[in-house]
Amino acid sequence: AQHKARQKTLEALKLSQEQLLEVKKRMRVEMERGLRKETHPEATVKMLPTYVCSTPDGTEKGDFLALDLGGTNFRVLLVRVRNGMRRGVEMHNKIYSIPQEIMQGTGEELFDHIVHCISDFLEYMGMKGVSLPLGFTFSFPCKQTNLDEGILLKWTKGFNASGCEGEDVVNLLKEAIHRREEFDLDVVAVVNDTVGTMMTCGYEDPYCEVGLIVGTGSNACYMEEMRNVELVEGEEGRMCVNMEWGAFGDSGCLDDFWTEFDVAVDEHSLNPGKQSDCLALLQVRSILQHLGLESTCDDSIIVKEVCTVVARRAAQLCGAGMAAVVDKIRENRQLDFLKVTVGVDGTLYKLHPHFASIMHETVKQLSPKCEVTFLQSEDGSGKGAALITAVACRIREAGQ
Ligand code: BG6
Repeated sequence: AQHKARQKTLEALKLSQEQLLEVKKRMRVEMERGLRKETHPEATVKMLPTYVCSTPDGTEKGDFLALDLGGTNFRVLLVRVRNGMRRGVEMHNKIYSIPQEIMQGTGEELFDHIVHCISDFLEYMGMKGVSLPLGFTFSFPCKQTNLDEGILLKWTKGFNASGCEGEDVVNLLKEAIHRREEFDLDVVAVVNDTVGTMMTCGYEDPYCEVGLIVGTGSNACYMEEMRNVELVEGEEGRMCVNMEWGAFGDSGCLDDFWTEFDVAVDEHSLNPGKQSDCLALLQVRSILQHLGLESTCDDSIIVKEVCTVVARRAAQLCGAGMAAVVDKIRENRQLDFLKVTVGVDGTLYKLHPHFASIMHETVKQLSPKCEVTFLQSEDGSGKGAALITAVACRIREAGQ
């Protein structure tokens, strides 16, 4: 009887092909709402312009600093990009912790801590006093009106430092650098991790025009036609759009897919009504650890069964979103068939034993007119931020 009850409960979490097609369709509707000027203000999937207008072409070069804030680890990096015969990227990085009281303290404390870490890194690398261009991978929803400006719309993923929302994070960083009076830095670009991931994979594969993160949070970006990016003047060419798809469903458009478990996870999260944040993941982890200590073999089998169903559902939902993206790119270009590569990063995608293959399969089924290759990104944000910074510096120098 217990087994039957469990099967019935788990049944509610299984998604049919029709349901997944419906999710894909609704994602497309939300994408259009975010892109359009009139509907953008109320849109939940924000479709934010990034001011990144091309993927790498291999001529990028120089030495750059990069910061990576918003994933599992906060890192400071030195990135050397070479072109020509010695083409390639060499990186040095150091991981720093951000204590929870700083994540949720004041903005000044957070940015002072970041600058302290940069200072420590420069010393560690024997580079004190050297001023290099810096790319800031800041993986939270930001409104950009320029490559080197990013107004934080909303903290996500467990961060909640006061006085930052509505502010330009480049300014907050510069102010903290001035407070320290130790070095100066030229902050050239604010970069979302999805964009960094796309650029990193784009350096190896010219078909890479989509970036995907499945980790602490989930999000995607892709190259959209400028004529469709209504928030930015101009019709020619393309611009990378940071979808902020973690907010998909916040408008209520997926309510009929919600189960009692989604409700429970949401109610216990840091920001109820918004994305399932990392706290939910921590809770699951602690529950599992707890079970691991005291569980019987039977319990373990049940946990495994439940995890399988939940992971499958997550991977399929992610695949349905990705199917909407690649089909939109195909339609934008009026193609019957599109070959495209998606650069991917994130611990869930990389470490879960089945997530990736279920997601690939789902994309294949839901967008049969696209041949989608998934390329894992290594050290995405650091490399990507440096490549974006390199292009910006090149353009700036050419204009002088
Ligand atoms: C990393 C990127 O490799 O992946 C980060 O460099 C990104 O910028 C991260 O945020 C996402 O994965 P996770 O699992 O660390 O959130």
